[in-house]
Amino acid sequence: MHQSQHTSHAEDPDGRIRDGADRAIHEFMGAIAEDRKKNPGNDIVSGLLECRVDGRPFNDQELGGILYLLFLAGLDTVASMLGWTFMHLAQHTDDRKRITADPTLSASTVEELLRYYSIVSITRHTTADVEMKGCPIKKGDRVIVPLAPADRDPKAFPDAMDFQLDRAPNRHIAFGAGPHRCVGSHLARLELRVALEEWHRLIPDYAIAPEADLGLRVGMFVTSLQSVPLEWTPSTGG
Ligand code: HEM
Repeated sequence: MHQSQHTSHAEDPDGRIRDGADRAIHEFMGAIAEDRKKNPGNDIVSGLLECRVDGRPFNDQELGGILYLLFLAGLDTVASMLGWTFMHLAQHTDDRKRITADPTLSASTVEELLRYYSIVSITRHTTADVEMKGCPIKKGDRVIVPLAPADRDPKAFPDAMDFQLDRAPNRHIAFGAGPHRCVGSHLARLELRVALEEWHRLIPDYAIAPEADLGLRVGMFVTSLQSVPLEWTPSTGG
């Protein structure tokens, strides 16, 4: 996943690393699909094999595309959000202490993290010639639209630049909007909440390692940190 999504053009000018990684993901998911054809279970791949659209099942190419999308959309996003989450909480002791003391705040904290660090940029093809603030965009051009500015829009959120872990209401669009809105948002919220609660139950106090280079990676779809090395003092138990 990392090589597929976080290899820069400079590192991979002819795209060989990314293509190889994408092929490996397709092969990995294809092998799971083949297995589920023989051994159907109570899982999403088996469910997709049962799907009928206009009365027919998905062909191999369609199924491969859906599984590839699920793999990337499901893993890269949550992994990146965890990076921003732990960076924020390592740097903001008050927020960290509040959710450690009161885990019932974890759901609203997740929403505020999603708003404040809206990591996804969506892409669209324009259907007509348009001009945006003096910039001409031709019909059929591909545009990349980061969601982050909308989620820090002061017209939509009071004190938009402040992180408020109990913000309510919090109608962010970190999961997009409209027909392509994130299909995995409930799972993503759960994963992030469980990570917050379990981590802070065990490791309430930590900091980013001194002189760590977090390595901002602005990908076409997801903005992430390369690594967030944390340090803490193990409890002696007892
Ligand atoms: C914090 C984590 C996540 C964030 C911020 C996020 C964000 C988004 C956004 C903004 C879109 C809309 C894309 C567009 O309009 O072009 C989207 C679509 C999608 N997401 Fe997520 N997502 C997350 C987690 C997940 C998970 C866990 C899964 C699956 C297990 C998932 C599966 C998908 C899929 C399949 C789509 C495409 C839906 C479509 O085109 O109809 N996402 N996601």
